[in-house]
Parts: sequence; structure tokens; C-alpha cells
Amino acid sequence: MSSYENYSKTSASYDTTRPPQGLDVIRAVLSTNAVPLEAQMLLDAGCGTGQYTAALINDVAQITAIDLNEAMLGAAREKLHGEAGSGRLVFHQASLETLPIDAQSVDAIMVNQVLHHVADNPEKHWPGHQRVFAEFARVLKPKGMIVINSCSHAQLKSGFWFYQLIPDAVERICRRTCDPTVIAELLQGAGFCQTKHTVDTEIVMQDASYFSAEGVFDANWRSGDSIWALATPNELEAALQQARQLAETGELESFMSQHDAARGEVGQLTFSSAQKI
Ligand SMILES: C[S@@+](CC[C@H](N)C(=O)[O-])C[C@H]1O[C@@H](n2cnc3c(N)ncnc32)[C@H](O)[C@@H]1O
Repeated sequence: MSSYENYSKTSASYDTTRPPQGLDVIRAVLSTNAVPLEAQMLLDAGCGTGQYTAALINDVAQITAIDLNEAMLGAAREKLHGEAGSGRLVFHQASLETLPIDAQSVDAIMVNQVLHHVADNPEKHWPGHQRVFAEFARVLKPKGMIVINSCSHAQLKSGFWFYQLIPDAVERICRRTCDPTVIAELLQGAGFCQTKHTVDTEIVMQDASYFSAEGVFDANWRSGDSIWALATPNELEAALQQARQLAETGELESFMSQHDAARGEVGQLTFSSAQKI
């Protein structure tokens, strides 16, 4: 379960602002596996509404899609109901810390925008992430590949224009987010090697809707990025008031452009890949 976002509610609108991103990067990582892509058993860890599973189901032999939230998983089952009985798809409602699958049973794992929801303690060197990575190492076959889609701290600090409206929430998300350098250390400790980080600065997490500045006034639009759940009610009200003033003076679009400028340098998403030893 997310340690802060209410996915039981968010599941209803999630797909409207969050298309799967970086599919080519993910396919490229999975294709480095000795097992051909079309023969691979893939784990979608924290599958949410199943958007990545739906996008990749025809590329691999089978996907095991796991999520802890019933509503997100329900949306995934609905989206993929055509696969029921095909033998190509298995769903489980479970935590990433205790995966209900056998040791060495998958060829590859993808983890898209999930890890910052794991309750954790950076001061104690991320024990929650360590438990999850140990589970990933357990279920992956030797030489299996993992690809983790997350945001670096630099991306959180300057890759999203509207984050400038909620600076305290940015501090909180950074404390919940393992920077890719730390991900690499933790992966190595869990028995992975050859960690690489890929950033495609063209990728925009919320796609075209990200550029809809007026979106900040819409709760469904905001629910497309869980950082809003980390703003206190007072911080949210202050952010909306600032945005309203900018809109009234015709400056909201230029605020967006100004605070979006660094995205072209840092990008929004980092894909960290590694191989199990
Ligand atoms: C931002 S959504 C990403 C969903 C999907 N991977 C995507 O990118 O479209 C995060 C998902 O992670 C799930 N999640 C968070 N912590 C989890 C945990 N410890 N175990 C299993 N799922 C978890 C949430 O329920 C939610 O569906």
C-alpha cells in the first residue's frame, strides 16, 4: 500500500493523466536478457491499473502483475479482461516485500513509479527498499534483468513545473525517494551488478496533460501525481491561491514555461537497470 497516496480513490482517474512512459527503454533493457523477449516471464511489480502490463503483454510470454491496492488491481483486471484464461497473465494482490511467487521464477522485473510509496527510513539506509530488493533478487532467475523507473532528486527538484508551487511537498517526496545513486548501492547489496541509469529528457510523465497549466485547479489532474498528496491542506490552498493569482493576471502559462525550462536538461524519469548475479 502506498504510505501516503489514497489509491482506492485515485484508481478511478489515474489513467487519464498517466500513460505508460519509457516503453522503448524498458524493452531495450529486457532485450539484453539471454532469454529472448518473447519467451520471458515478466513481473510487473506495483502494476497499478495495469497500463505497463497492457502495453507489454504482447512482447513477452507471461506477465505476473502484482499490486497491494485492490482498486488499482481491479482497474488492471478490467483493462486486461480479454487476457483472462489465456495463461499469459497472472494477478496477485500482495506487497512487494512478500511476493507470492516462487524463487527464481521470473526472467525480468519492471517497477514503474512505485518505490517512493514504500514506507522507509533514509537515516537507517532504506530498510524498506532493502527488503523489496531482496525479494526481487529472490524471485529473479540468475542473470535476470530488473528495470526501475523512478525520479532522481534533481528531477524532483527541477523537472516538474508545478512542483514550484509546493516546495515543502518536494522536500517530503525527496525524503521518500531513493536517488538512483542509492538505488545502485542497494541493488549491489541485494546481489545485482552492472547498474545503468538511462534518462530520456523527451519523456514527460503526465504526457500532454502536463502542459495544461489550468490542470492544477482540477483534483483529478492533481491525482495524476502523488506529490500533491504530500502537501498539507494549508500548503495546497496556498499553492492554489498562487496559481489563481497567476491565472488572473495572465501569468500562469509563463510561470509554467519558466519553471519547466530545466526539464530539457534533467528530464523527469530515470530508468535504472541491473542484472542479477
Ligand atoms: C504511482 S502508481 C504506479 C502504477 C504503475 N506501475 C504505473 O506506473 O502505471 C504506484 C502503485 O504502487 C502500488 N504500491 C505501492 N506500494 C506498494 C507495495 N508495498 N506493494 C505493492 N504495491 C505497492 C500502489 O498501490 C500503486 O498502484
